[in-house]
Amino acid sequence: MSSRFVAGMTVEEVIEAAQTLQAQGIASTLDSLGENVLTPEEAERSAAVYHRLLDEIGQKHLNANVSVKLTQIGMDLGGDLTEGIVSRLTEHARSVGSFVRIDMEGTPYTQATIDLVKRVHAQPGNQGRIGTVIQAYLFRSEADIQDLVANGIRIRLCKGAYKEPPALAFPEKADVDRNFVRLMQILLKSGVYHGIATHDEAMVNATTQFVKENNIDLNSFEFQMLYGIRRDLQNRLVKEGFRVRVYVPFGSEWYPYFMRRLAERPANVLFLARNLLRR
Ligand code: FDA
Repeated sequence: MSSRFVAGMTVEEVIEAAQTLQAQGIASTLDSLGENVLTPEEAERSAAVYHRLLDEIGQKHLNANVSVKLTQIGMDLGGDLTEGIVSRLTEHARSVGSFVRIDMEGTPYTQATIDLVKRVHAQPGNQGRIGTVIQAYLFRSEADIQDLVANGIRIRLCKGAYKEPPALAFPEKADVDRNFVRLMQILLKSGVYHGIATHDEAMVNATTQFVKENNIDLNSFEFQMLYGIRRDLQNRLVKEGFRVRVYVPFGSEWYPYFMRRLAERPANVLFLARNLLRR
């Protein structure tokens, strides 16, 4: 059932998926699934998969980058382990003309993620090679955007996928959407290359309208969507001349990712059940 949202179990399969997308004019960001590892060895094993992906991206000249979760490379274990891994991945990405996106997890990690990204981005040669994600559901996000943009750091804007308390995040969808639009406008005016990550047509339309009204260069930002979700919208945007990047997850640890996708749209459970019955 998860194959609707996950591109396979192996590096070979995800690279094939990226090549197929590229043939349709769609860039990709590759995610080796996994989170909250328990030992430094597991963290290094996760990192090794990303180094393989970057090798493949370089060798096959793919318009692709990688998306990494800090808890997958040892963030819960303390010490300098995670920062060392991110530094080496960023250096590798630089050497193959690619980029490292640090995904954003739940609020216990928000500040630490931003701080780590800023430190690695400040290392010589890393400018524009590492960026992170800002979630429109958090009250703090506008201030975080100002901080990151002042440092020239590329941001992926999304709504946010974790369960957060009302003290930290807008509980109502309408408020999240309103904040998303405001933050999108700040990003597109910032002069830094950002990603607008959503499948919500209202958010996509607000973005394309803002772009038109402000004469924003279509090559100065990209839309981002998840693998297998709203492929019609992905293709339509490409046809209209927008840049689109698809987030392509793969690997054996697909369960938490898959469950988040189901939780955010219960209709998916029905959709998958129907497909399963058809098979
Ligand atoms: P919303 O949830 O309001 O959905 C609007 C419409 O989109 C739905 O009515 C439906 O048509 C479609 N849709 C949305 N989700 C769907 C699904 N699962 N299946 C089918 N249709 C669906 N979050 C985070 O906390 N940290 C991160 O690092 C990232 N990274 C990230 C990268 C990329 C490329 C994307 C697109 C998203 C993320 N997210 C994320 C997830 C994000 O926060 C959010 O949970 C989802 O994108 C769903 O929000 P939408 O903006 O799509 O709108």
